[in-house]
Amino acid sequence: MTVDPRFRPKGRNWPLIWAFLIECGGSTKTSSATSMAVTAALRGYPGVVFDLDSNMSSSLILGYDETALKGKKTAYDLLRGDATFDEVALPARFRIGDGYDEDAFAPIPNLRVVPSSPTMAGADTAIAEDVDRNDWFVELCRGYAGDDTVFYMDFPASYGKMPYSVLRMLDEDDSVIPSIKADPKDVKMVARLVDELERVRSKNRGRMSVPGRPTLNHMLLTGTPTPTYKEAAARRAAELAQAKYGSVLLPYVRYSADAKKLYEDECPLPILLPNSAPSVDYRKIMTHLGFVDLAA
Ligand SMILES: Nc1ncnc2c1ncn2[C@@H]1O[C@H](COP(=O)(O)OP(=O)(O)OP(=O)(O)O)[C@@H](O)[C@H]1O
Ligand SMILES: [Mg+2]
Repeated sequence: MTVDPRFRPKGRNWPLIWAFLIECGGSTKTSSATSMAVTAALRGYPGVVFDLDSNMSSSLILGYDETALKGKKTAYDLLRGDATFDEVALPARFRIGDGYDEDAFAPIPNLRVVPSSPTMAGADTAIAEDVDRNDWFVELCRGYAGDDTVFYMDFPASYGKMPYSVLRMLDEDDSVIPSIKADPKDVKMVARLVDELERVRSKNRGRMSVPGRPTLNHMLLTGTPTPTYKEAAARRAAELAQAKYGSVLLPYVRYSADAKKLYEDECPLPILLPNSAPSVDYRKIMTHLGFVDLAA
């Protein structure tokens, strides 16, 4: 198997890791993680979305709600050491009809999802009670053998033990990607993430067993102004983000009132509304990051 070396930093066996993390609820982590993963997948780049949030948002958008997951292993089993990566990862899909038969869904090629469960709310506790569980993601990466290009990690809005167990596997070629709304309050929350990443790096300095270098290489600003959406606060947020984080800021993801529908319709934005402003912008971002359309 030959995978483009840019998806295997330093010649390692596991994919690039993009951690959609910021301790800020409803900041668009899930929307961005799923939109970027689907955009890349549709362009021919295989990937895996890890839903690590007990709210199960990315599982739902990629075709699996609690009913669909009945009897199936989830990220929590992976963390507990009760299942392997290949047992848990499911083919991503989106809803096209009612019910749970195969024909109620259409497949999303090149994409898998590691689904979450409500029990993921206890992930930090599970790690606290058994320190070996801190290595779940280390073991997953070291044992990985596949051709995925990116692991898209969708986190809850917290900096607990579970996010730490993933962050310690990031190297400077990977990226922590805060995805935030164009709101000055959200922009101010990024400083705490920067501090948290510094804490993780200094804690792991000199360590041989894990890279321990999570870095904020990219930042996403969503819900930015358009000719019809002219919010003064959104404009101020964009200015603030540009001033403080201009060097890592990706092209803007514009506002769309329709973006809310992705949870109702259980379908990722690039498929549900491919011509909406945010879908166009996520395609631009993926091109910017080097994920040009392989079919084109
Ligand atoms: N470009 C956009 N324009 C307007 N609204 C958007 C845009 N992108 C996402 N949204 C909306 O913002 C809300 C929050 O998004 P999302 O669920 O992705 O955030 P989150 O950070 O994952 O939240 P949580 O912390 O609850 O997991 C959703 O209702 C979503 O539809
Ligand atoms: Mg979310």
